[in-house]
Amino acid sequence: MKKVGVLISGRGSNLQALVDAAARGELGGEIAVVVSNVESAAGLERARKAAVPAHFCDHRGRPREDFDQEVLQLLAAHHVDLVCLAGFMRLLSSRFIRAYAGRILNVHPSLLPAFPGREPQRQALAYGVKVSGATVHLVDEGLDSGPILLQEAVPVRGADTEETLAARILEVEHRLYPRAARIVLEGRCRVEGRRVLLEEA
Ligand code: GRF
Repeated sequence: MKKVGVLISGRGSNLQALVDAAARGELGGEIAVVVSNVESAAGLERARKAAVPAHFCDHRGRPREDFDQEVLQLLAAHHVDLVCLAGFMRLLSSRFIRAYAGRILNVHPSLLPAFPGREPQRQALAYGVKVSGATVHLVDEGLDSGPILLQEAVPVRGADTEETLAARILEVEHRLYPRAARIVLEGRCRVEGRRVLLEEA
């Protein structure tokens, strides 16, 4: 059984979607470990409820490499094949990215390359786009910049606030992320430059 490590910083609803997909046998692997850089992250409790080993790693007051090394050790100890970032609010060092080259995924609530970084829903509303959405991509050293695995559009409504738009996009994230993780875990994708070619089941 392939093993997934999930890195979080907060609520953990995408973590929950991955845990639930694994429980239904729809992930193509199991969640082996969850690591949070925030001690109070609600996602840690979700992991414990699902009997998944959950660790807090403090990033404060230490070099990035040091923190990344500790996380890498945890992932190695749990024989992790694929790393899923799920609301993880830190950039990873090149050493980390090299260690899991092509095997780190992130979910982002916009149609990348539009609106990377923080508060993408606010950015989308401020720009006035009529369509936003969710993206799952491979992680490289940039900010939300790696090759795109899956995307799905979500219409922006006139009455939308940041919260209502975020909630509609989140529903899509919860469907998209487990599907993307499964594609990678089952080896059903190939990266050619920026393009990820998929064999969907
Ligand atoms: C999600 O919208 C995700 O796309 C973004 O941060 C949010 C995390 O939510 N990177 P959750 O912690 O998974 O509930």
